[in-house]
Amino acid sequence: MEPIIQITYFLTAFLFIFGLKRMSSPMTARSGIIWAGFAMMFATVVTFFWPGLSHYTLMIIAVVIGSSIAWILAKKVSMKDMPQMIAVYNGMGGGSAAAIACVELLKNEMANTGLAALAVAGGLIGAIAFTGSVIAFAKLQGLMKERPVTFPNQQHINLIVLASSVVLGILLLSIGWGFLVPLFFAAALAFGIMMTLPIGGGDMPVVISLYNALTGLAVGFEGFAMGNAAMIVAGTVVGAAGTLLTLLMAKAMNRSLANVLFGAFGQEVTATEGEIKGSLKPIEIDDAAIMMAYADKVIIIPGYGMAVAQAQHKVRELAETLEKRGITVKYAIHPVAGRMPGHMNVLLAEANVPYEKLFDIEEVNPEFSNTDVSLVIGANDVVNPAAKTNPASPIYGMPILDVDRSKNCLVIKRGKGKGFAGIENELFFKENTRMLYGDAQDVVGKLVQSLKRL
Ligand code: TAP
Repeated sequence: MEPIIQITYFLTAFLFIFGLKRMSSPMTARSGIIWAGFAMMFATVVTFFWPGLSHYTLMIIAVVIGSSIAWILAKKVSMKDMPQMIAVYNGMGGGSAAAIACVELLKNEMANTGLAALAVAGGLIGAIAFTGSVIAFAKLQGLMKERPVTFPNQQHINLIVLASSVVLGILLLSIGWGFLVPLFFAAALAFGIMMTLPIGGGDMPVVISLYNALTGLAVGFEGFAMGNAAMIVAGTVVGAAGTLLTLLMAKAMNRSLANVLFGAFGQEVTATEGEIKGSLKPIEIDDAAIMMAYADKVIIIPGYGMAVAQAQHKVRELAETLEKRGITVKYAIHPVAGRMPGHMNVLLAEANVPYEKLFDIEEVNPEFSNTDVSLVIGANDVVNPAAKTNPASPIYGMPILDVDRSKNCLVIKRGKGKGFAGIENELFFKENTRMLYGDAQDVVGKLVQSLKRL
């Protein structure tokens, strides 16, 4: 049986990597997820054939319960709740790695200290990722305050808890006393909570991605400890992809990873917003359509509101209608627009918007000054000039799309709602900005109708 298991693990590893490769483009990402899902299924099924296993009924019950809950949650989750859903899945992965480490360490049957050290390292990282993700979930789900929870000497206390768990892990390896196992895990679990409490607001996506990377690392370590090739490959792939994603997101928010990890935790930023001059100036649909119809170049800036309204199909229709009039249309994509990495890319790909029309921040920013109309669709923070001008703003330093430089700006949003960062946006008050109030899908649909009548 052993060779068949190893061959299946090899196939699983291949499919994980193949799936991940396909996930690198929004056009193929959906099938990438399906391939990786099949890989996970093969790995789970073949595990039942490991020699020496027992308690099959318990295993099947666990798989049925876990799969049913995951299936129902995935079907029901709305796009806006996606970050906390990902946090839950990360947490489960980290928790599973820690549970494996706990059982193996309690059995005290590891062939050599090297393997035991890997089990301890994986257990430590997995436990931190587990409780850290649970706190991230609670914050994003509104079960606890999302703003940073801080107290005096927090950094020092956190360091002491982390150091205690490391020392307990080393003691565990050197003297092997079983009673140290629960103490070791208690310290690691506590550190996960304490590390996440002082994080809030815009740092949340970065930290969720970081826990994703840690979970991968933990699973990889446990894979080595148990000699399980599928776990090694899956863990390494998740760890590497998660690390890259963390770095990319930190860069998109203009934070170094070191700053995210050690510097900013615990620092609550209070936005002292200056008085914004000007007023919000609404515009009628037909007037906005005329403004676009006589433009040479229009840049569309989608944001979280487009996702909420599921307006991507109407947006593609609008772009096509403008292009039929000979107008150049481009999409400006901010890396953290929406609520998950690649959110806008995925939605626009789903609506068959050609990928080559999507431009990232560095490519598109120089173009705004010669753009006749920038159409902001449910975006707010990613176009907020306060990121460039107001050092007291919580988003200060985050690169933004320079929509304020375009000749005219149209903004679609339902009312005066703030963005994720909870701050006012002076772009909306500018002289050349007009507000198109309403649900994005409805407004874009009406714009298309109006343009077709011209
Ligand atoms: P936001 O700043 O969150 O602004 C979205 C705007 O959309 C709101 O001002 C809201 O105003 C409007 N809106 C909501 N529903 C709408 C609808 N149905 N129709 C039309 N408009 C609607 O969005 P953004 O500019 O995309 O920025 C994303 C923010 O989320 C950033 O601060 C980022 O750091 C954060 N974040 C990102 C991620 C990732 S990885 N992408 C994850 C978590 C957090 P009204 O209420 O007035 O309509």
